[in-house]
Formats: sequence, structure tokens, C-alpha cells
Amino acid sequence: MGGRWTIYYYHRFPLFLLPNQTPQILNLKSEPLFQIPVACYSDHCLNHNLSHSPIKPKFSSFITDSQIQSEFAHHDQGVARINNGSFGCCPASVITVLQQWQLKYLRQPDHFNYNELQKGILKSRTIIKDLINADHVDEISVVDNATTAVAIVLQHTAWAFAEGIYEKGNAIVMLHYAYGAVKKSIKAYISRAGGDVIEVHFKFPVNSKDEVISAFRKALAKGKANGKRIRLAVIDHITSMPSIVIPVKKLVEICREEGVDQVFVDAAHGIGCTVVDMKEIGADFYTSNLHKWFFCPPSVAFLYCRKWSKCLDLHHPVVSHEYGNGLPIESAWVGTRDYSTYLVVPSALEFINRFENGMQGIMKRNHDAVVEMGKMLAKAWGTNLGCPPEMCATMVMVGLPACLGISSENDSLKLRTHLRERFGVEVPIYYREPEDGEDEPITGYARISHQVYNKVDDYQKFRGAVDQLVVDGFTCTHLLD
Ligand SMILES: Cc1ncc(COP(=O)(O)O)c(C=O)c1O
Repeated sequence: MGGRWTIYYYHRFPLFLLPNQTPQILNLKSEPLFQIPVACYSDHCLNHNLSHSPIKPKFSSFITDSQIQSEFAHHDQGVARINNGSFGCCPASVITVLQQWQLKYLRQPDHFNYNELQKGILKSRTIIKDLINADHVDEISVVDNATTAVAIVLQHTAWAFAEGIYEKGNAIVMLHYAYGAVKKSIKAYISRAGGDVIEVHFKFPVNSKDEVISAFRKALAKGKANGKRIRLAVIDHITSMPSIVIPVKKLVEICREEGVDQVFVDAAHGIGCTVVDMKEIGADFYTSNLHKWFFCPPSVAFLYCRKWSKCLDLHHPVVSHEYGNGLPIESAWVGTRDYSTYLVVPSALEFINRFENGMQGIMKRNHDAVVEMGKMLAKAWGTNLGCPPEMCATMVMVGLPACLGISSENDSLKLRTHLRERFGVEVPIYYREPEDGEDEPITGYARISHQVYNKVDDYQKFRGAVDQLVVDGFTCTHLLD
């Protein structure tokens, strides 16, 4: 007896295996949360697996290399895409489900909006709650992106200034390497409301977590010595440029010790990139995109808010009918629009669970591969990595040859464009300002990413492009503005 079989999952845990016809035969009414079809062609295979634990099927149910390539066949095959960090990726199977949701809405919008949308969003929120070890689904709101989540939290702080709960001159603290758009948001909401901003500076390349921790302690101490009451800390989980995994748990602890009122972790690169555990991290607010490393289409993110009572204080910047009903409900209706990206979280998780050890397995393989590729490139160019392997997750900074003459942010942008247009390599470049007295400083670092679709060839292509530039005697001065 062979045929098609289905592994039934509850969240990411495989529960049992049934032949595909069983639900009809048994007249099962409720669908399992997730199903993964498995080809199984012999009795031996079935008996073998059922007589052992169905939790660990021995036959190869995992996604194969060729299936991975076909899931991403829509990627431009002429481009070595080693920049998953910027915009993420979405496999074909999730795109199909996205389109099904879009059609469902277009077919009967009233039925969809009144009967399906909120149920679907709740299902996504429940999955996220379990994945990040939150206490309650009401702590989770689904929003468009990390930028929106930042606006929600900072608007809340700005009102505290406006309503006199915080005094002018009270401060917020952020890393010097905070994301550019987040810094602008801080300017728009906090500086304008009368708040001061303390920046935490540390050197890049960074050699250890302790360098970050001690810089953070120093910045808080300096702020306090200047008589500043610190109301909010905005801490990146993984900085964007340069990309470094920040010891957030430790920094949150320090904030608690030092009496910082609230802590917000900006983890635009969090879920699918590094371990995300709300109880472990202990922040008040935490946001992560799902479209970067969780295989969702653009755009969808979550904002975690510790304790439901706090969710009542926060509001979505786009006010609609649900105003005042708590952030998760406000965020689930911000006017007429396409919400399909909010509904595909279960499908993205199904995709992830086709890999051995699911999300943990993907993260480990991406981490190991990106470190290996980073070391290979740094060795070829006689440079270094921007941080030790334990401070990177699925992205790593690799020093570029000094002779490329990267001497400004504009140069790094031009070089990135040149690599795309002349060599078909997509990789962001970071300009690092040299310090006084540095001999032959490395001023340019490439941020390479690794995601499941990447191959060694992608990194070889990048290496070949840079080698070619070096042989040609290229410098950034050759590139026009
Ligand atoms: C640290 C950080 N914060 C915020 C963002 C903004 O993310 P999004 O554009 O998806 O809102 C990014 C984007 O890369 C980021 O790296």
C-alpha cells in the first residue's frame, strides 16, 4: 500500500500521519492547523515509521535541494542575491496562498471582511505568540512592517511628553548604529516633543559583546550624570549596517537596573534570523518583520507588547473604527486595503517546517554557511570579518580590499550599484570612517546574507567581481555620481 500521506502538525510539532483520504473516511469536520503532504511509496516505509515515533519520520520528508530551487525559481537567475537582509524572500508555495487570499477577498469582499479576515489574523497572531514564547495572544499585533511598529511605540512616548507625563529634557537612548529610518522617527516623534536623545557609540569592527555592553552602561551613566531621566531605550536586536547581533537580554537587564522606564527592541531582522524569546529577552515592546527571514511576502511584521493593559495605551497611527479596542484589534482593521500578507503566516510556517528541524535548522544552516562564506571572502581579500561569529546570525560583514578606495557613504552606494549593474551581484556595502592614525584602514564592508536558496556560486561570483575590480586598478573615484 503506497500513495500520498499527510503529516498533521500542531504549530511546529508533528502530531500524526494519516493517509490523505482519512479525513473524508472518518468524516473529520475540523481541519488540522497545518498539513504537509509526504510521498510514501511502500508498506515498509509506512509500517517502519508508524511503529516508531511518528514525530520523527525516517523517510525523507524534508524539502530537497531541487524543491528549494523551484520554490525560488521566480528570482532573477542572473543575479547573485546575497542580500536577503534588505527585502527578504517569499517561496512560490506561499505566493500561491497569498494569491488565493487575494482572490477570496475579491470574489466576495463583504463575506471576507465580516467572516474571514479577523479569524485569519487571529490564527497568525496565535502562531506568532507560540513561536516567540509570549504569554498571551493579546500581546501580539500584526502590522505592516518594523517602521510602523516603531511609529506606534514612539507616538506613545511622544504623547507622554505632550500630556506632561514626561518632562521636557527627559531622554531616550538608542544605539549609534540604529536604523536610519528609526533615527528619523525618533527625531520626528521624540525630539519634536521635547525629548533628549542619548546615542550609544561603540567601535566597528567589534571584538566582543562586552564592548557593546560597556558602551551601553557608559551612555546610561553619562545621561544620568547629566541629570537625565531615561524614559525609553530603543535597542536593535540585530543592527542593520553594520550588521551585529546585540546582546539584547543583557542590555534590557541593565535598563531595569538603571531605572529606564521602558525598553523597545527593534528586531526588524529578528524572527527566522536569531532566537526570539519574549520571556528570555524581557523587553516591554519587541517588533520583528516576517517578510525578511520568515518567508512572508512584503509586508508583514508583528509588534509584541508585554501585558494586555499596555496594548490599550498604544494606538495604530492610522486611526479607524477599532480605535480604543486595543492595539491588536486596531491593527487588524486600518481601513479598506489588502490584508492578505497578514494571513499567510501559517503557510510560511508550513514552508519552514519542510526543513529539517524547522526554523532552528534553517537558522543554524544559514549561520554556519554565512560565516564560512564570509571567512572565505575575507581570506581571499586579506581582510577581516566585522565581528566574531557568535555576534552574527545569518548576515556577516566582510572587509573589502582597501584599494577600492571607498571613502564616503556615497562611494559605498555607487559601488553597490556598480556590482549590480556590471556583475549581477546584489550586496549592500557599508562605509566605515577610518580612525586617526590607522594605517591602510578597511573603509568598506560588504554585508553578505545567507538564505536557503543561496549557493556557494553566489559568493564565488561576488569574489570574482571584486577580484576583477582589483586587477583592473578600479577605485570608487572612477564611478560617476
Ligand atoms: C534595524 C532595522 N529597523 C527597522 C527596519 C525597517 O524595516 P521595514 O522597512 O521593513 O519597516 C530595518 C530594515 O532593514 C532594520 O534593519
